[in-house]
Amino acid sequence: MDNVFVSQHPLVAHKLTKIRDASTKPKKFRELIREIAALITYEATQDLQATPIKVQTPLTETDGKELADKIGLVPILRAGLGMVEGVWELMPSAEVWHIGLYRDEETFRPVEYYNKLPIEPTVSVCLVLDPMLATGGSAVATVGILKDWGVSRIKFVGLIGAPEGIALLHEHHPDVPIHLAAVDDRLNDRAFIVPGLGDAGDRQFGTA
Ligand code: PRP
Repeated sequence: MDNVFVSQHPLVAHKLTKIRDASTKPKKFRELIREIAALITYEATQDLQATPIKVQTPLTETDGKELADKIGLVPILRAGLGMVEGVWELMPSAEVWHIGLYRDEETFRPVEYYNKLPIEPTVSVCLVLDPMLATGGSAVATVGILKDWGVSRIKFVGLIGAPEGIALLHEHHPDVPIHLAAVDDRLNDRAFIVPGLGDAGDRQFGTA
């Protein structure tokens, strides 16, 4: 499918295998989620704008570049939170704007409970961070919120996507590239990704 990018990097595959493992404890799980988020974001940000600048090395002046885009990281609470630190390591001046959504357990529809976006957009590019793209409802809603805010360049950065979620996000927002570590087989009757990694929020925060 157009605009869907699944990492082929062996480091990602190695870490993804460890994070899927049901015996991985929350401390290790959080470490892996940070690391995989950084690796996927590295691949997802190849087209960011950079402005030529001069830099003085200890020996001479030479040409360099400086990022021109103002980047906003938009973690979807709760599970997206764990991805922030990894991405922030790569781009420490990025702004972080949290969006709180939970999935209704019966309808599987996202319910918004936190949004403190100011009236005017403060960034030019948003990276939506959520490890799981299951039905896609949360991602579709978040991208809609960001478009209403006035940001047009938006990317989704996740770990695992289900075919259903990828299709829904692509159908509603075909302009939004989807960057993932893996595409899994299906959703089960509770809308959990199979094989997946379980509940990414509970496994990070020890609330399983
Ligand atoms: C999970 C997950 C995603 C969402 C994905 O969150 O972390 O945010 O569901 O599902 P969707 O693609 O079907 O919308 P959950 O509702 O469990 O909340 P939590 O992150 O606070 O645990």
